[in-house]
Amino acid sequence: MFRFVSVLLICLVLSAPSTPCNSKTTSGQNHNSSVSTIKESYDAKATNKSCNYGRGKIIDIGITKGNFTPKIHVCFDNTTHRTFWTKHYLGRTNTSNSTDGRTSWSKDFFYKFNPDKIYKKVSNNSDRGHLSPRADFNTDIERKMTYYYINAAPQASNLNRGKWRWIEEEVRARANKESSPVKVITGSGGVLFAFNMYNYTYPEYFFKIVVFKNGQNEVFVGVNNATAAVTTESPFKQSLCKNVIPFCGCFGYSEGIVYCCKLDKDLMQRFGLEKDDVDYKERW
Ligand SMILES: *[C@@H]1O[C@H](CO)[C@@H](O)[C@H](O)[C@H]1NC(C)=O
Ligand SMILES: *[C@@H]1O[C@H](CO)[C@@H](O)[C@H](O)[C@H]1NC(C)=O
Ligand SMILES: *[C@@H]1O[C@H](CO)[C@@H](O)[C@H](O)[C@H]1NC(C)=O
Ligand SMILES: *[C@@H]1O[C@H](CO)[C@@H](O)[C@H](O)[C@H]1NC(C)=O
Ligand SMILES: *[C@@H]1O[C@H](CO)[C@@H](O)[C@H](O)[C@H]1NC(C)=O
Ligand SMILES: *[C@@H]1O[C@H](CO)[C@@H](O)[C@H](O)[C@H]1NC(C)=O
Ligand SMILES: *[C@@H]1O[C@H](CO)[C@@H](O)[C@H](O)[C@H]1NC(C)=O
Ligand SMILES: *[C@@H]1O[C@H](CO)[C@@H](O)[C@H](O)[C@H]1NC(C)=O
Repeated sequence: MFRFVSVLLICLVLSAPSTPCNSKTTSGQNHNSSVSTIKESYDAKATNKSCNYGRGKIIDIGITKGNFTPKIHVCFDNTTHRTFWTKHYLGRTNTSNSTDGRTSWSKDFFYKFNPDKIYKKVSNNSDRGHLSPRADFNTDIERKMTYYYINAAPQASNLNRGKWRWIEEEVRARANKESSPVKVITGSGGVLFAFNMYNYTYPEYFFKIVVFKNGQNEVFVGVNNATAAVTTESPFKQSLCKNVIPFCGCFGYSEGIVYCCKLDKDLMQRFGLEKDDVDYKERW
């Protein structure tokens, strides 16, 4: 559970960008908006589209308002219950909209075990780390739509509440300055340790790729080891992120270890991304 008060304090002291603090909640299930007068609901639908070189299948998370409109594409492996990555477009977000949009987490597509058990086991130092962030969406129902366990992975609290939060806020700030939405791909990978009983893994790192309309991109990688000291050289700094960009932003405050990398072919393979995935104009 998120310690809301202390984090709010940190955000204020460090004068972080103006988006509100992201956080997590738990409890029952409800896929419907109670705010809207128009019948609107959110849903997740399996597709037959393969991803990550055939290792996963796309699940669409989106809004049903008459028709179903996909908003987040999730690349999911249903044998390991692992999400390789999610993709969404991020436009301008309006922070004066006080809509919170928090809700309980949906377990849809977890067939073999209750994911709550995983998060409970690691709750001493880990959070339910949203992949596509709640605050990247403007409406109440769209924010609620992000609360699927398939849109999350166990994330070290110091990373989630530290530099990863900063990255999410920074990406929104950047998107607010663009005339077109940016494409955001967020995923996790590697194995810090395994839950053999559930055939499930705790990822070693998180990554986020921002693709701008002009085709340029930025790649952030966060170390998902809660006990790693900030000075620790991560083993994957060499093995995964061969092309480290030395200074990629103001990570001066807050906890967690983050690198910026150059997106090469090797890194794309490691992240489970194909060419289309990082193409801004991909058919949605
Ligand atoms: C959501 O709304 C639909 C359609 O109005 C309804 O059939 C369904 O029971 C509702 N589900 C929940 C969880 O409230
Ligand atoms: C899903 O894709 C597989 C392989 O491409 C194909 O054999 C199968 O018929 C497809 N199923 C549906 C329901 O479209
Ligand atoms: C897992 O995915 C495969 C391939 O898409 C599908 O055939 C199978 O029915 C899925 N399993 C479950 C339990 O949904
Ligand atoms: C466990 O995951 C592996 C892939 O890492 C998969 O091949 C295997 O079928 C899974 N086992 C079970 C029991 O689902
Ligand atoms: C943000 O939303 C508020 C309330 O909905 C509105 O008054 C304001 O004009 C919006 N600001 C921008 C920049 O769109
Ligand atoms: C927190 O949980 C992890 C994973 O179960 C464990 O390895 C670690 O020792 C725990 N740390 C504390 C301080 O309890
Ligand atoms: C603010 O939230 C309301 C309620 O979900 C939504 O209808 C409205 O479109 C939002 N406004 C903006 C500017 O995003
Ligand atoms: C996490 O970091 C600590 C401190 O650097 C290190 O001792 C530990 O081996 C790391 N855990 C894993 C699974 O790599």
